[in-house]
Parts: sequence; C-alpha cells; structure tokens
Amino acid sequence: MAFNHITAQEAAEMIKNGDSIGLSGFTAPGAPKFITEAIAAKAVAEHEAGRPFKINLFTGASTSDHVDGVLSRANAINMRAPYQNVPDLRKRINCHDVHYFDRHLSEMAQEMRYGFYGKLDYAIIEAADITPDGEVILGCGVGNIPTFAMLADKIFIELNAKLPKSLLGMHDVVLLQDPPRRREIGIYSADDRIGSPVLKIDPSKVIGVVATDSYDGVKPFTEPDEVSKQIGANVVSFLISEYRSGRLPKEFLPLQSGVGNVANAVLYDLGESSVLPTFKMYTEVIQDAVLELMKKGKCTFASTCSMTFSDKVEEELFGNIDFFHDKILMRPAEISNNPEVIRRIGVIAMNTALEADIFGGVNSTHVLGTKMMNGIGGSGDFTRNAYLSIFSCPSVTKGGLISNIVPMVAHADHSEHSVDIVVTDQGIADLRHLDPVDRAKAIIDNCAHPDYRPLLHEYLNLGKGGQTPHSLKAAFAFHTAFSETGDMRNVNFGKYI
Ligand code: COA
Repeated sequence: MAFNHITAQEAAEMIKNGDSIGLSGFTAPGAPKFITEAIAAKAVAEHEAGRPFKINLFTGASTSDHVDGVLSRANAINMRAPYQNVPDLRKRINCHDVHYFDRHLSEMAQEMRYGFYGKLDYAIIEAADITPDGEVILGCGVGNIPTFAMLADKIFIELNAKLPKSLLGMHDVVLLQDPPRRREIGIYSADDRIGSPVLKIDPSKVIGVVATDSYDGVKPFTEPDEVSKQIGANVVSFLISEYRSGRLPKEFLPLQSGVGNVANAVLYDLGESSVLPTFKMYTEVIQDAVLELMKKGKCTFASTCSMTFSDKVEEELFGNIDFFHDKILMRPAEISNNPEVIRRIGVIAMNTALEADIFGGVNSTHVLGTKMMNGIGGSGDFTRNAYLSIFSCPSVTKGGLISNIVPMVAHADHSEHSVDIVVTDQGIADLRHLDPVDRAKAIIDNCAHPDYRPLLHEYLNLGKGGQTPHSLKAAFAFHTAFSETGDMRNVNFGKYI
C-alpha cells in the first residue's frame, strides 16, 4: 500500500489550535520525534503572530524532549495525560499553563474509548516498517496507540530508519473489548502471547508518512551511588529470605520494576544472587540492566510496554536482535499494566516513593504535598494488585534536611492497604500482618534515618488513641518545619500539644 510521503512541517501545518493528538510509545521509545518538534515550531510562530495555539496531548506515559520538552517550551500544550517526567513540562503543570490529568496508565486507553477526554483528531505513530498491506510494525514502545489509532480521525506515521524491520514479532498488539463485552485476558504466564505482531490501522485515515532517522535518546545510567546500592542490596536480601522461607514459590514470581537508578541497582543485584532462580518480568518498562540479565541467562523473559534502553544498549539490541527476539514482548499499556493479569500471575512489584509515612502510606508524586514531580504512572496499577508490593526510597533527601519517612504523607498515592514492604538504605520494614502501631515502630526503627527516629517516636506518642494514632494537629509538623526553617529536624511538637 503506497502512503503519501510528507515532511514534518507539512504535517504540523494541518494541526489546528485545540486539536487533540494521541502518540505512540511509552517513555521516550516509540514516541514520535519530528512532527511534534514541527508542531512546537508552529506554536511559536502562531504565538508571535498573536494567535492562540495549544494542543491536547495524550500518550502512553512520559515521552522525551522531542515531545514534552519542545512543546512545553513553546507553551503549546493545553491538556496532558496520563504521565510525564520532563522538567520544562513540570514547570508548566505546576503553574497551570498545562492542565495535567495524572492517571493510572492501565486505565487511559479505555477511558479514551469511553469518551472521557473528548474526540481524538490525530494519532501519530512511530513505525519500524509498514507492510505491503498497510499494517504497522511499531518501534520500541507501544503505549496506547492501538486505541488512539482506532479513535483518531486522521493518522500520521513517522517511519524511523534507525529501527530494524526485524522488530517484527516483538509486539503483542491487542485492543480490549469494553464492558459489558470484555472477556478474561488470556495471559497465564508472562510469556503468553494473545495479540497480533502488527498494528492494524484503517489505511484511509493515513494522511502522510514522515521519514525520520533517530535513536530514542534515553540517557545511560550513572553508576549507582552508595545509597542506591544499599537499597538494592536490602531489597535483594529481603527477596532471598522470602524465597528461603518458602513464601515465594520454587520457580519464583514475575517481577515489575519501576524506573530510575535504584530500580536499575536492584536488578543488577538480582543478577548477582546465586540463591535466587532465573525469573521472568511482567513490567511496563525494561531498562539497561534487563538486557545484561538476559545475556547472563538470569532473566529469561520480559513482558513490557517499552524497551527503555539507552542509545548504546538500543544499538546493541538491534545488532543482536536474534538473541533477544523471543525474550522480549512489547504490549499496550492496558495489557502490560493490567490489574487482572498482575493479580493472576502474582507479580512482585518494586517501585520508588518520594516519601512514606510511619503507617505505610506512600507519596510518589507530589513534592512536599503540592508540586507535581512526574505522576503516579504504573505504580498504582502494580502496587494495588501485586502478590508483594515493595516501595523503596532513600531515608533522607537534600543531605538530611528532608526525612523521606514522615508522620503522614503530604499527598497520598498508595495507602497502607496496598503497601507490604518499605525499604530504605537503613533497612527493611515488613508490614504484612502488623497492626498500625507495630507498623509504625517497624518503619521508624528499620527505615528512618537515625537523626529522625526519636522525632518520629515522639510523634507516635502524641497520638491520642484510635487504631491509627495520628495527631491531626501535628501530622504535617515535619513538612511545616522544613518550609519554615529549611530543615525537618527543627520540628517542635511542643507547639502542637
Ligand atoms: N521531599 C521533597 N523532595 C524530595 C523528596 C521528598 N520526600 N524525595 C525526593 N525529593 C527530590 C529529590 O531531592 C530530587 O530533587 P532534585 O531533582 O532537585 O535533585 C527529586 O525529588 C527526585 O528524587 P530522586 O531521589 O532523584 O527520585 P527518583 O529518580 O528515584 O524518582 C520518583 C523517584 C518517586 C519521583 C519516581 O520513581 C516516580 O516518578 N515515581 C512515580 C511513577 C512510578 O512509580 N512509576 C512506576 C512504574 S515505572
């Protein structure tokens, strides 16, 4: 099928103020790269001419500077969902230039189909190839593109020459039926395939194909610092003790791992363990460490929504694709993060918190309760439904001025009902079967930094009864001390009594 070839600028010219656009991809991989930059340039020109120009932008998760970066700097985004992690966009969100809707990633596609976000004008798809029948072989991330492509009035395709055609077979493209017609999702093991290797689209919607030639641009990981290494070691020693005690089955359970340096450090340490068996992953992103684990034979399979590899590792993958081809399967976000599947196959979820409270509540999103950092991402999808939910964070931040263990989280993303294990560089608190006061003692004594332990015990003793003995007057005394003095250690509970 011969599609029309156009330039990114020609595509951008067709986009109007107020249009809603859905992009392929999940994190930087799989996201378009050229058309969004051309839309940003158009926005700048329109604004200079005194005309309003903003689009509504929907994705699978975060994107890259080619998308959220350039568009934010051009102040070209009106509504944005469901996740982001770009500093320029964060600034726009925190001053309401961008209306950000922070959603569980597994829900975005069906909510779009239900019409919660209005009509979709365009879908932009990054492709490794287009078959003679006009079917699309996707790039290194899927996201919500099956739904966006189905709903959008018009489609642009970015055909990226850097992506090998041999990616064919590494995707499992599925479009779920909506209630009441939804049936069970037939994934009983992380490596079960249920969909199509290609994205089928309506060819009459394709307005044009733009040729691109660019890696995904994911930065390589820095060597983990001592704190990340200690957290990684603590998580791994916890998993080893669970395995030895028989609370994890002999064949182990599939792992989900969040993004970032701590997550990468945990995975490297898992690879080093001679006690733990080989394992599979059921996760939303795989990072550089996973490729290493596959080379060592430690990780035998990964179901994911994207391959978030740094450019060097992406190049290595493309050069050895035969080895990895049957070990990685990329699925849409509503499948990679699906609560039904996560609960069924017993995923061990490992995510990162900004702060945790002494009773096990977790804040993943809002710095000091008000400023959006990134978003909840897939952490809620996995945490609520996992066999075991582990949250980790450093015990302190900003050289000890901030304790990441606080009396009450200043924003609640995950409640104590969903959080099983809290891990910091100080140690592990296993919250299973503990009542709230015992949970508090475990978290304070095992996870809080020694500077903050007496203060947290003082807070716990302030509580006047009830199953969860908070002092509502003093619950945010740590945060207040930081905003008033720049150091949480200056907390003065006397003024709350
Ligand atoms: N209070 C105030 N600021 C805090 C803080 C706290 N309790 N904890 C961390 N910070 C600051 C850090 O100092 C750092 O600031 P800087 O950018 O000025 O250096 C910033 O927040 C990020 O902290 P860092 O420790 O580098 O975070 P990270 O890269 O490990 O990411 C999350 C942690 C929570 C932001 C990240 O994991 C996230 O966005 N999670 C939600 C999404 C998710 O879990 N997805 C999971 C599936 S992939």
